Amino acid sequence: MTSGWFITFEGGEGSGKSTQAKRLSERLKEEGHSVTVTREPGGSPFAERLRTLILDPTLETHTPLAEALLFASARADHLDQVIRPSLAAGGVVICDRFLDSTRVYQGYAGRVEPRLLEALELIVVQHTKPDLTIVIDIPAEVGLARAALRMEAPVHTAPSEKPPKQPRGLLTDRFETRDLAFHKKLREGFIEIARLEPQRCVVVDGQRSPDEVARDVWSIVQARLLSDTA
Ligand SMILES: Nc1ncnc2c1ncn2[C@@H]1O[C@H](COP(=O)(O)OP(=O)(O)OP(=O)(O)O)[C@@H](O)[C@H]1O
Ligand SMILES: [Mg+2]
Repeated sequence: MTSGWFITFEGGEGSGKSTQAKRLSERLKEEGHSVTVTREPGGSPFAERLRTLILDPTLETHTPLAEALLFASARADHLDQVIRPSLAAGGVVICDRFLDSTRVYQGYAGRVEPRLLEALELIVVQHTKPDLTIVIDIPAEVGLARAALRMEAPVHTAPSEKPPKQPRGLLTDRFETRDLAFHKKLREGFIEIARLEPQRCVVVDGQRSPDEVARDVWSIVQARLLSDTA
């Protein structure tokens, strides 16, 4: 069976993951690859419904296990419906957030025991680990400011104009509303994972222009993945 490449983008809020996932997908398509861009939580119809629930800022769960199981359920469906079939067909899958976000948001900076997350990862992810994970690193304040700017955009629309499409279902999600200390911890968590798994993860400085970041990402993909098939 052929197997494509599984690339994930990770990092804090507003670090540029979605921007770079799109840029990389365009570049890979230019090179003739079949590319699927997807995201977590979500990525399949069932998981997108769970995403709405998971990110709803008005709906706080007080049971860390309940939250972790919802993420795991969404991921199981996403892997089964989208990621594994695309990889099996030899395509490139680019996923905007994946297992490291769970480890960091729910484990490192969150309330779920790492032992529990490890068990869920074994059951749900199994062997479908990313071939390459790009961690976009920026200070928490910078990322949050970017995310806030983006979220304020619809406010400036004249009433007669058609409102711009909202980038997501909910303006401020449940994690964005957490305090700065939480977001600083997220940054530490992603860096720590990259330090522990250097074969899979590469950290990219996200405090440069989107073009510069995209150039870096492309060199990494060429060095880590394209060179294998040359
Ligand atoms: N390198 C960059 N420099 C400045 N602004 C950027 C850069 N990359 C992205 N942006 C802008 O910052 C905002 C957030 O970018 P993007 O949505 O790609 O980040 P994200 O990591 O996907 O955020 P989130 O975690 O909230 O999904 C967008 O308005 C985007 O246009
Ligand atoms: Mg995004």
